[in-house]
Amino acid sequence: MWDTLWLDAHLASMTVGEAPYGAIEDGAIAVEGGRIAWVGRRVDLPGRPEALAREVRSCGSRWITPGLIDCHTHIVHGGDRAHEFELRLKGARYEEIARAGGGIRSTVAATRAASEAALYESARRRIADLQAEGVTTIEIKSGYGLDRESEARMLRVARRLGATLPLTVRTTFLGAHALPPEFDGRADAFIEFLCQDILPSAAAEGLVDAVDAFCERIGFTLGQTRKVFEAARGLGLPVKLHAEQLSDQGGAVLAAAYGALSADHLEYLSEAGARAMAAAGTVAVLLPGAFYFIRETRLPPVDLLRREGVRIALATDCNPGTSPMTSILLVLNMAATLFRLTPEEALAGVTREAAAALGLGASHGTLEVGKAADFVLWNITRPAELAYRIGGNPAALAVRGGQPLWPAMRS
Ligand code: NIG
Ligand code: FE
Repeated sequence: MWDTLWLDAHLASMTVGEAPYGAIEDGAIAVEGGRIAWVGRRVDLPGRPEALAREVRSCGSRWITPGLIDCHTHIVHGGDRAHEFELRLKGARYEEIARAGGGIRSTVAATRAASEAALYESARRRIADLQAEGVTTIEIKSGYGLDRESEARMLRVARRLGATLPLTVRTTFLGAHALPPEFDGRADAFIEFLCQDILPSAAAEGLVDAVDAFCERIGFTLGQTRKVFEAARGLGLPVKLHAEQLSDQGGAVLAAAYGALSADHLEYLSEAGARAMAAAGTVAVLLPGAFYFIRETRLPPVDLLRREGVRIALATDCNPGTSPMTSILLVLNMAATLFRLTPEEALAGVTREAAAALGLGASHGTLEVGKAADFVLWNITRPAELAYRIGGNPAALAVRGGQPLWPAMRS
């Protein structure tokens, strides 16, 4: 007998097939032991609902999607950069501020100074915004510590968030995010120390699910990024890359050569980069919040990605410098309005494709038997509404591992 049977729902299963959104009208989902045990049309249920499950719940004709996945965040960090925002409004550019010692480095100082408890609490609040919109899985990067102890502290906080909240957390080591002040003028020596010491010690503590780097004029070179990828490979860890955000460095080609789970940002992606990503199955993670917030004018080449068959995911990039954003629904709207993704592509970008970008494609991201029973009930009449609205929150109930995250459905 199943634990719970959810009835009277329309399902946007997000499986790939004939129907847009993998839609199943008048569907049902059965949950057993935190996983999806049955999903399909209600008329195809193998018996009377009461005979099949201990608990039967009506969804009141709402739509159900998979739990949303934010696959690229820097949500654990100290301080904020509202002052930098003011400077930019007076004309300073993001790259100028970074070169003048502000930018990522100012968040490094604030993060190093913050206690583990303070980092946990500030991240928990930001995560609560995402959870309210149906996010059940997030990725959290390090990269504002840049020394052994501070990087490990960020990742421990990420692990603790996953252990204490109803949330699946994947951690990414982003030690190669910026050059810390104590290594000024010695970027190669920093990368050496990162590969020999900081990364292996974080990995030995079980804190690292994947490894990322910032390959950019104001970040690290292609050669330095390759060293980080080699170190990750030596530890058996998958890689991802902040690639082609402000310029074309050839990062996507390199990431694909290492079988990267994803290459992220990609406004300056070349044709060669897209082809390499397609061949390697590397997911493109687009980050419209950062594009919007730094007023980038170069659009990521969405048509090229489609043409080459590169999978497209979306995320908040929640960080204090380029995307102080905690709304996954706004990401959907921005992806549609700014990048011209269809609402269906946008929803796939925060479900099925985001799961792939985290290496969780087999267990998360669609409503399919055997996958985690993570799903969201929505007060909408069609799935496109999720990308259509600006502000407002139609989430009626989020369910993770079969457990509702709040006591009653919102209307
Ligand atoms: O994803 N591009 C590099 N990293 C972040 C920005 C970090 C910051 O400015 O603090 C990003 O946009
Ligand atoms: Fe980022």
